[in-house]
Amino acid sequence: MDRLTLRPARADDAPGIAAIHCASWRDTYSNVLSPEFLAGPIEQNRSELWAARLAAPDEARQVLVAESPSTGPAAFLSAYRDADARWGSLIENLHVSPALRGQRIGERLIRTAATALAAQAKATGVYLWVFEANQAGLRFYQRLGGQVVERSTSKLAEARGATVLRVFWPSLEALRV
Ligand SMILES: CC(C)(COP(=O)(O)OP(=O)(O)OC[C@H]1O[C@@H](n2cnc3c(N)ncnc32)[C@H](O)[C@@H]1OP(=O)(O)O)[C@@H](O)C(=O)NCCC(=O)NCCS
Repeated sequence: MDRLTLRPARADDAPGIAAIHCASWRDTYSNVLSPEFLAGPIEQNRSELWAARLAAPDEARQVLVAESPSTGPAAFLSAYRDADARWGSLIENLHVSPALRGQRIGERLIRTAATALAAQAKATGVYLWVFEANQAGLRFYQRLGGQVVERSTSKLAEARGATVLRVFWPSLEALRV
């Protein structure tokens, strides 16, 4: 595979990002999200979300795409600056195409996003929510120095009350990338 480059997402990336999001949720959350949702409605749900987010960008949101010239978008990260007064900036979504995982693409996306957040955010903290059932994802964040600081219940109706964990880095220095 060609070397991946990272760049900010454009409006015309919406279908490509939605496709990665669907494939990743289907692959990773088969034991978390309802089978009915994963079988069909997920596609319209993710398409509408990304079309709306990228058509009218919010200046606090940073969406990064990793792509190769031959295959197009392979992974993406969405971050929201200063989302929470206590915890800082939120990593809303991070997904690598299932076939391309384990090549440090996720780490590169986090490093790039965190560097931009450190330059622009008022708060130094960075946090995200991960499903407790997503143990591989949780290990990935812990390897990067993230600390589990809270348990809660997913607000996503399709998650049917699944437990989510808040993972927190107090500063860029705490992020081991
Ligand atoms: C978690 C994720 C973003 C990490 O990105 P990545 O590019 O695969 O990660 P890296 O190559 O930088 O690191 C690989 C590490 O991720 C972990 N990992 C998590 N899910 C993995 C998977 N399906 N395949 C391989 N490694 C995975 C491994 O523990 C690996 O650590 P190791 O190299 O010490 O064994 C990516 O695997 C992914 O998209 N997973 C599914 C969606 C998801 O869980 N997103 C986060 C939601 S909060």
